[in-house]
Amino acid sequence: MSAVPATPRGRAAVIAGVGGYVPPNVVTNDDLAARLDTSDEWIRSRTGIAARNVVSPGTATSDLAVEAGRRALESAGVAEAGAVVLATTTPDRPCPATAPEVASRLGLGGAAAFDIASVCSGFLYALAVGAGLIATGVAERVLVVGADAFTTIIDPQDRGTAVIFADGAGAVVLRAGEPTEAGVVGTVVLGSDGARSDLIEVPGGGSRHRSSHAATGDGADLGDPYFRMRGRETYRHAVERMTSASRQAAAAAGWDVSRDVDRFAAHQANARILAAVADRLGVRPQRRLSNIEQVGNTGAASVPLLLAEATAAGALTAGHRLLLTAFGGGLAWGATALVWPDVKAG
Ligand code: UT7
Repeated sequence: MSAVPATPRGRAAVIAGVGGYVPPNVVTNDDLAARLDTSDEWIRSRTGIAARNVVSPGTATSDLAVEAGRRALESAGVAEAGAVVLATTTPDRPCPATAPEVASRLGLGGAAAFDIASVCSGFLYALAVGAGLIATGVAERVLVVGADAFTTIIDPQDRGTAVIFADGAGAVVLRAGEPTEAGVVGTVVLGSDGARSDLIEVPGGGSRHRSSHAATGDGADLGDPYFRMRGRETYRHAVERMTSASRQAAAAAGWDVSRDVDRFAAHQANARILAAVADRLGVRPQRRLSNIEQVGNTGAASVPLLLAEATAAGALTAGHRLLLTAFGGGLAWGATALVWPDVKAG
């Protein structure tokens, strides 16, 4: 029996492009305070958010993902990718995955394409999977997208979530390269705790509580169709998990966090969470990247959108030693360390 040909040895995944997109419609804190029992002062002081972008009716996650993906491909100077990995909590529909449509609309028809459901950690999971697709020879180039139209699953009357969550997309292009290059995706730390899946969930619409359109039978519990979060408990887990995952990722890279990290990009969950994590890690304030004030918490889009905006603004430049981390529903979390490559934001 002949051996199966080995996968290409020593192939690394290298970031070759980055792009971000937010829909044009801006909602301010005062806009929210006009219809909810909240205030600009409360939202700013408790979350650090001043405004956010929101999709108009009829705009879906794929529309955001296509724009960010197009910009990332332009940034990389390429028109082709062999795979599209899309992290999202708000797919265009429950079935099929949204990634194949995104691939097709970007002219990448035929590419391997699928979604990742890891809520706000989705981009870190998708990055690890994208790097794996290159390592195993599935693709020479992978488009990794984080996109969420989060406001489409938010209860408009729930002030605990309506003031935080927002819509957007971010993407990177990964290409096959050498393990010593800038932009190489190294060890990605990932973890989960399904015992606390109750902290962040959309209870209805799945196989446990079927959607109202499925055959439910008499007396079936349709479940709550909205995104629910137990904020205070989630907050505590977010700080603990992002701190420990960041430490593990830095250690895997051989970095001392307070000395070696030039830029820290954490999931933009809440400005107080970001400050608590960075303080614990000893990352100085001027090294912390943040755009939460203007874009809010954009779920799986948060980290790549931040990378795109920071690159465009010149806050993240070639050679910066960058630490990324994210946390969200699952519970699920992730972190990785990399040297930022010489890319222009698309
Ligand atoms: O992205 C995935 C992971 N998500 C996160 O990491 C988010 C984690 N959680 C948070 O960011 C925060 O917990 C929230 C922003 C959601 C809430 O902030 P908090 O400081 O934890 O407030 P709280 O839930 O402890 O509520 C404090 C008070 C309560 O009133 P009482 O019981 O003290 O009278 C709430 O009812 O603030 C009230 N409150 C509000 N007041 C005005 C809650 N939301 C609002 C609001 N406006 N929007």
